[in-house]
Amino acid sequence: MSQQQPKSNPERMEKIVSLCKRRGFIFQSSEIYGGLNGCWDYGPLGVELKRNLKDYWWRVMVRERDDVVGMDGSILMNRAVWKASGHEETFTDPMVDCRNCKARHRADQLPQKEGVPYCPNCGSRDLTEARAFNLMFQTYVGATQDENAKVFLRPETAQAIFVQFKNVLEVSRKKLPFGIAQIGKAFRNEINPRNFTFRSREFEQMELEYFCAPSQGRELLDYWLQERLRFYENIGLPREKLHVHEIPAEERAFYSQGTYDIEFEFPFGIQELEGVAYRTDYDLNQHIKASGKPLDYFDEESKQRFVPHVVEPSAGVDRTALALICSAYDEETVTDEKGKSETRIVLRFHPRIAPVKVGIFPLLKNNEHLVAKAREITALLRPHMMTFYDEGGAIGRRYRRQDEVGTPFGITVDFETLGEKGDELKDTVTLRHRDSMKQERVPIKDLLGIILPQVT
Ligand code: GAP
Repeated sequence: MSQQQPKSNPERMEKIVSLCKRRGFIFQSSEIYGGLNGCWDYGPLGVELKRNLKDYWWRVMVRERDDVVGMDGSILMNRAVWKASGHEETFTDPMVDCRNCKARHRADQLPQKEGVPYCPNCGSRDLTEARAFNLMFQTYVGATQDENAKVFLRPETAQAIFVQFKNVLEVSRKKLPFGIAQIGKAFRNEINPRNFTFRSREFEQMELEYFCAPSQGRELLDYWLQERLRFYENIGLPREKLHVHEIPAEERAFYSQGTYDIEFEFPFGIQELEGVAYRTDYDLNQHIKASGKPLDYFDEESKQRFVPHVVEPSAGVDRTALALICSAYDEETVTDEKGKSETRIVLRFHPRIAPVKVGIFPLLKNNEHLVAKAREITALLRPHMMTFYDEGGAIGRRYRRQDEVGTPFGITVDFETLGEKGDELKDTVTLRHRDSMKQERVPIKDLLGIILPQVT
């Protein structure tokens, strides 16, 4: 974590959590049975937000590049993978028990009073010695539940990429430097899941393993740090809320020759969004040793054979989605033409990642011509973007409902659209902009051309 911690803001976080539930971004998993700690379900808006985020990551990390291809590995893998990677032995967090209230905590996250750690649950200082707790969930493959059948739910997506390195290299006919990208679920039995979805037991990762010659590793680490910062800015996280923390050599994994954490100012403090790590040839070498298979590379130009080095930008989908919601949340006082003030809650999402791109409203729901026109516009825009048709309540209320979920555009079909105020305004609509609340008159035929470039 960085040094300069801004004040945490629990009230703001409470409002965000409550909005997420009220408007269908995020629910507690298995809520009607009391939930399951560390697990979350994404509702209709949350799933759109996550999809937009993952699609944009895939677009810029895979589709728009010549040097990256994708894959989708299985969650369950041969146990030998986790022995070779070191996860069976060392993927642990230090855990302590409180002897007074029996709660379990991560030893490195305990609060302290006068330098002495205490239990955050009951305040007791009577804690056990720290011991290593392996974070991998285990299960069994097949009908026999013994050691030979034991497997783990993957705690990261990266290992599937390392063990398929040779296959992907051969089929894609790429030359170094090149990368393999993957988005998928990962599972960690965190001792203390906390801060809403920030530390979960089931989550999604977006990982790239970028393979290169040893001489290129350091430079590519810095290149990928800049690319990833640009990504976060392009989805609307302000640069001043992003922090780069260079992990000192003594805190890095022994094989790493450089690691940056990209951090974000959440309402509960500055916390990691993504790690960008130069992992050298460690992972491929571990799998070469354990499997006996050649995972090396022959360079045609230099006629040399070597094990590639790896730079890994590894991001969390859920953490980024939470950062997007926290960053977008805003409250402002607005005063109408009669002088009446009210608080407007607005999620100022970048249009690119907003769950719904455009709300479409007939002025009156009991006028069949207005309704038919609004339905026609919905059909026009729907193949290209997520739309939301709403005919219920006063138009101002409908705007507010969309502001609260971050919809950047609103289209209102009124009597002018139908040509009742003359031919000049026939087949035009009101286009409302979420942030400024400004409205403009736009021909229906221009809508797609105006909105689409701003939401992709
Ligand atoms: N392959 C490298 C790797 O997994 P990591 O720093 O352990 O590195 C990468 O994880 C990212 O995955 C983190 O920066 C974070 O965004 C996300 N992540 C890790 N643990 C998480 C958890 N318990 N809940 C939510 N996201 C998590």
